[in-house]
Order: sequence, then C-alpha cells, then structure tokens
Amino acid sequence: MVPGEIAPYPLRSPRLRITPLAAADVDDFVRYRQDPEVARWQSWDTDYRVADALALVAGQPVDRLPGAGEWLQLAVRPVDGGPLHGDVAVRRCAGQPDTFELGVTLARAAQGRGIAGEALRAVLDMLFHDAGAHRVVASCDARNLPVSRLLRRVGMRHESRQLEADWFKGEWTTLDGWAVLAREWRDLAPRTVSTSAS
Ligand SMILES: CC(C)(COP(=O)(O)OP(=O)(O)OC[C@H]1O[C@@H](n2cnc3c(N)ncnc32)[C@H](O)[C@@H]1OP(=O)(O)O)[C@@H](O)C(=O)NCCC(=O)NCCS
Repeated sequence: MVPGEIAPYPLRSPRLRITPLAAADVDDFVRYRQDPEVARWQSWDTDYRVADALALVAGQPVDRLPGAGEWLQLAVRPVDGGPLHGDVAVRRCAGQPDTFELGVTLARAAQGRGIAGEALRAVLDMLFHDAGAHRVVASCDARNLPVSRLLRRVGMRHESRQLEADWFKGEWTTLDGWAVLAREWRDLAPRTVSTSAS
C-alpha cells in the first residue's frame, strides 16, 4: 500500500481495536499526557492541552497511511469500549523508502497487562503486511527500561546506543536505537505476515 490508498483500519487483536486518534478521544489522550510518569521520557510535558490534541487530530491523515515525514497517532482501545488505553504513533521516515518509526504510550491504568505488546504487534503486522515496510525503528531514552523490555519482547533488535546525544528536558540524554526488518518479522510471525515483495 502506498500513501493515498485506503488504510486498513481498524486493526484488531484479541483485546484491542486500533484506529486513528479522533476528536472524541482527546479528553482521555490529554489526561494521560498530563501524567508526569507518562510524560517523563516523551517529547511533550504535563502542560499538554486539549487545544494541542485537537490540532494534532486535525492535522493527521485518517483514511490513508502517512506520507513521507508525516506522523499518525493510532488510538489503542479496548474491543468492548471504555477509556482509551493509549496510542501508538507511526511516522513514515522521509530519508529512506519503506522505513517507519514507532512510538508507544499507555495510560498508567493500562500498563503492566501486555497491552502495549499486543498493540505494537498489530501495528508492526500492518506496517509489514499492508504498508510494505522494509524496516521499522524506534528511538528511546536509555533509562526507559519498560520500553526497552517491551521492544525486545515484540522482537525489535537493540542496534545502537548514542551516549549523551540528545539535549532533552534540561539534560544530555543517551538514546537507544531499535529496529526490525521485514525479513526478521516474517521469521518471528510466519503465519500472519508477508510483505509486498513476497
Ligand atoms: C513503554 C510502555 C508503553 C510499556 O508498557 P508496559 O505496560 O510495560 O508494556 P505491556 O503493556 O506490553 O505490558 C508488559 C508488562 O505487563 C506484564 N504482563 C501482565 N500481564 C500480561 C499479559 N497478559 N501479556 C503480556 N504481558 C503481561 C509483563 O510481564 C510486562 O511486565 P514487565 O515489563 O515488568 O516484565 C509504558 O511504560 C508507557 O506508556 N510509558 C510511558 C510512555 C513512554 O515512555 N513511552 C516510550 C517512549 S520511547
């Protein structure tokens, strides 16, 4: 699938329904973004506002996959309704073809239940199966141990550590780089995944 084609939402997994973040999600989204524990390693701060979220929703592609350089915030919901669990953010990288970056955030109440892993696997399946991804990457503060455990668990490789590379929230921080290739994902999940090349 290329930008401009209809995107394959909703994504479904046993416990989750995943669709682009919508205006109706904004109150839940802002609530967990204002939580200091959730915001600690993220680009936003606890002063994140409803107006910021509405601008984000209005500016993102909803009926197609993101184009080069564009982010898409996917809302992670329980299949049977209830408050938003969190979100997976997907960016199509501008510098290389078929390369995507991921970010993931859960509200504190949704953490520690395997929800982020289930959501990331569904999004990785979509990127490799429907979007023809060649490589998916993530970049995280090296001190963020829950995200390291999560990315390793879903099958991403720890491939770099950049010491004190990022001036972030008032200090130099060390960045870990994670990645998974289409051929690696195919080996991890042979029953569900193929790529446009296969
Ligand atoms: C990163 C983040 C999404 C990870 O969330 P998480 O809850 O640890 O990950 P999961 O939802 O996959 O849950 C896995 C945990 O639940 C436990 N668990 C409980 N029931 C489970 C189940 N049914 N299936 C799988 N795991 C289960 C696992 O043992 C694991 O715990 P562990 O890491 O202590 O071993 C979360 O810490 C977060 O949102 N942080 C704030 C935002 C952030 O920093 N994002 C990353 C920016 S790069």
